[in-house]
Amino acid sequence: MIDLRTDTVTRPTPGMRAAIAAAEVGDEQKGEDPTTRALEERVAGLLGAQAAVFVPSATMANQIALQLWSRPGDGLVASAGAHLIHSEAGGPAALAGLMVQPIFSADGTFDDIQFTGAVVGDGAEKPRTTIVSIENSHSNAGGRVWPLDRLEQLRSAAPRYGIRIHLDGARLLNAATHTNVSPLRLCAGMDSVTFCLSKGLGCPFGALLAIPAAAAAEARRIKQRLGGAMRQSGMLAAAGLYALDHHVDRTADDHIRARRLADILAGTGLVRGPVHTNVVALDATTVYWDREELRLRLAEEGVLVSALPRPGMLRAVTHLDVDDHDIEHAGAVITRVLDGKSVRPRP
Ligand SMILES: Cc1ncc(COP(=O)(O)O)c(C=O)c1O
Repeated sequence: MIDLRTDTVTRPTPGMRAAIAAAEVGDEQKGEDPTTRALEERVAGLLGAQAAVFVPSATMANQIALQLWSRPGDGLVASAGAHLIHSEAGGPAALAGLMVQPIFSADGTFDDIQFTGAVVGDGAEKPRTTIVSIENSHSNAGGRVWPLDRLEQLRSAAPRYGIRIHLDGARLLNAATHTNVSPLRLCAGMDSVTFCLSKGLGCPFGALLAIPAAAAAEARRIKQRLGGAMRQSGMLAAAGLYALDHHVDRTADDHIRARRLADILAGTGLVRGPVHTNVVALDATTVYWDREELRLRLAEEGVLVSALPRPGMLRAVTHLDVDDHDIEHAGAVITRVLDGKSVRPRP
C-alpha cells in the first residue's frame, strides 16, 4: 500500500526510536524535563522567538494562541479553508469564544485589501477583530505557500489595527524550502507561531507554540487547562531534536517527489494548481469522476489518497515513508485507473 493521504502517517525511523529510548527525562509539568526544555530552546531559536512551549499537538498550539490573543466575542480573520476553522472541532468558537471572519481564497492566502475588508472594527455592537491567523504552507489549498509580498502586507497592516498575527506553521519548513527563505525570516512580525513535529519532520507526536517571553506563563496556564501539561515528555521531545538534526534537509525530497507525481499525471487533467510543496491537489471533476469513487478505486489498486475540503478535490501528499519507486508506481496506477476517461476542458 502506498499511503499518500497525508504526511502524518509516517513511522519513527530506527534512529529516532533510539533517540527516544536514550532521552533524559523529568517532570515536564514542573518544568523539570531537560530534553523538553532543550527542544523548546532549539525551536525558539529556529523561529526567532523569545520562548516556545511544547504541546501534544499543533491543534493545541493553535488553540492556545487564539486564547492568548483574544477574548470571547472577538473576531478571528482566517482563510475559510484554514485547519483551525475546518479541522479543530470548532475550537475557535468552543474554547476561545471567537467569531470567525473568513476570507474565501482559492490558494489560502490573501492580500491587504482582502484582509482589511474582513476586519471588523470598534463599536459596542461589533465582534471586533483581534487576531488574524495564516497558514504557511496552506494544507487545504494544496500545500500552497504564501508569497513574500503578501506576508509583508499583512505584517504592516495588522499592527495598524491592533490585530495580532498567528502563523499556523504546521508545515513552515515546507514553506521555507519552497521560498528558500529561512524559517526565522518567515516568522518575523508574527505574534505566535505553531510549529509541528509530526508532519514533514516525521515525529510520532507534538508541536511547539513560539511566543514572546511575556506570554509564556499564560500559554502554559492555558496548556494546563486544556490538559496538555505532560510528565516525562523528554521521550517525545527527543524525537523532535532528532528530526531537527536529521530530517530538515530532506523536506526538499518530498517536494521533488510531489512535482514528479504531478509531472507523471500531467496528461491526465487531474492535477489542479501549481505544486509548491509536498501536496498534489487532484480535481476529480475535470476527469468526470465522482471523487469518492475515484478514491476507492485507487485504494483497491493500493494507492491511498484523501479528500480535500473542497468540492470534487482529492490530495496526494509525499512524506518520509514514500520513496521514488512509490511515486513512480502511484503515478502509473493513477494513470491506468483514469485511462479512457475523457478530460473536461478547463474554463
Ligand atoms: C495546517 C495544520 N495545522 C494544524 C494541524 C493539526 O496538527 P495536529 O494533528 O498535530 O493537531 C494540521 C494537521 O494536519 C494542519 O494540517
